Amino acid sequence: MGMNRRLCLITGASSGIGAEFAKQYAALGWDLALTARRADRLQVLAAELHARHGVLVEVIPEDLANPGAPPRIIAALEGKGREIDALVNNAGYGLPGTFLSTSWSDQADFLQVLYTAPVELTHRVLPGMAARGFGRIINVASLAGYTAGSAGHTLYGSVKSAMIKFSESVAAECETLGHKDVHCTALCPGFTWSEFHDVNGMRETTNKMPKWMWMEAAPVVKAGIEAVNRGQPVVVPGVFNKAVATLTRILPEPVGRALAHSQTARYRKLEG
Ligand SMILES: NC(=O)c1ccc[n+]([C@@H]2O[C@H](COP(=O)([O-])OP(=O)(O)OC[C@H]3O[C@@H](n4cnc5c(N)ncnc54)[C@H](OP(=O)(O)O)[C@@H]3O)[C@@H](O)[C@H]2O)c1
Repeated sequence: MGMNRRLCLITGASSGIGAEFAKQYAALGWDLALTARRADRLQVLAAELHARHGVLVEVIPEDLANPGAPPRIIAALEGKGREIDALVNNAGYGLPGTFLSTSWSDQADFLQVLYTAPVELTHRVLPGMAARGFGRIINVASLAGYTAGSAGHTLYGSVKSAMIKFSESVAAECETLGHKDVHCTALCPGFTWSEFHDVNGMRETTNKMPKWMWMEAAPVVKAGIEAVNRGQPVVVPGVFNKAVATLTRILPEPVGRALAHSQTARYRKLEG
């Protein structure tokens, strides 16, 4: 791989928001390391981005539910003498069903993929970024991290809230320790076109929602890259999503909770 260009490691790059991050970082002239389970998808994207932008793209197929995945991903890049200048913790999904109806094994995998793995990857790349005086970390959280907890969103909202707090804390720590050009941002999308609602079995229901509530992945990703470059710890892309985020801050808590409760059925599948 070429050593002169910066390198961005992206998890969940085989579709949706992650694939769009790959496209935008490649267009900016960055080399890429792409990981997800579907190696074939990653290979196709890697070939396309190499051909279009001349950047080098490393494909590292891994299942992040496996606790061995984060150290293996980092070791694969270190083995090629590559330093990681940006990390996009994007891989994620929603579990259909309720907390009561879902097995512990599925909940444990969910915590590993959406919380432990991104936190571990951050912990592993941050020292190098601090030492070199440059780093960009984007944690793809969600608007669900702002809104009150509701049925079925049991771990999803909790984990996304945690990713927002975690990102704010990492950003504050870097600033406090004098690592001024090492930035960490939580990107909090609302409804975004991707495979997310196919995976969680909600496509038919979400198709009935008004189109203005939805965003394409491209402006979501652009907002994330611009925010991390500015050193903004949290960004909510889009006017509608910003309005929702603001409402959650100003509404009395019982009202926010009642609203979240009444709206859940529109986009959550409670049966397994
Ligand atoms: N779409 C939305 O409305 C929305 C809203 C707010 C936040 N988000 C967040 O945005 C992020 C990206 O989701 P998306 O909307 O782009 O959905 P998506 O199109 O379904 O993409 C999800 C990505 O995560 C990867 N992934 C899932 N499980 C994995 C595992 N065990 N190991 C490794 N990779 C795994 C998938 O790759 P493989 O299947 O190939 O492994 C895929 O590349 C997620 O964190 C999601 O929570 C999405």
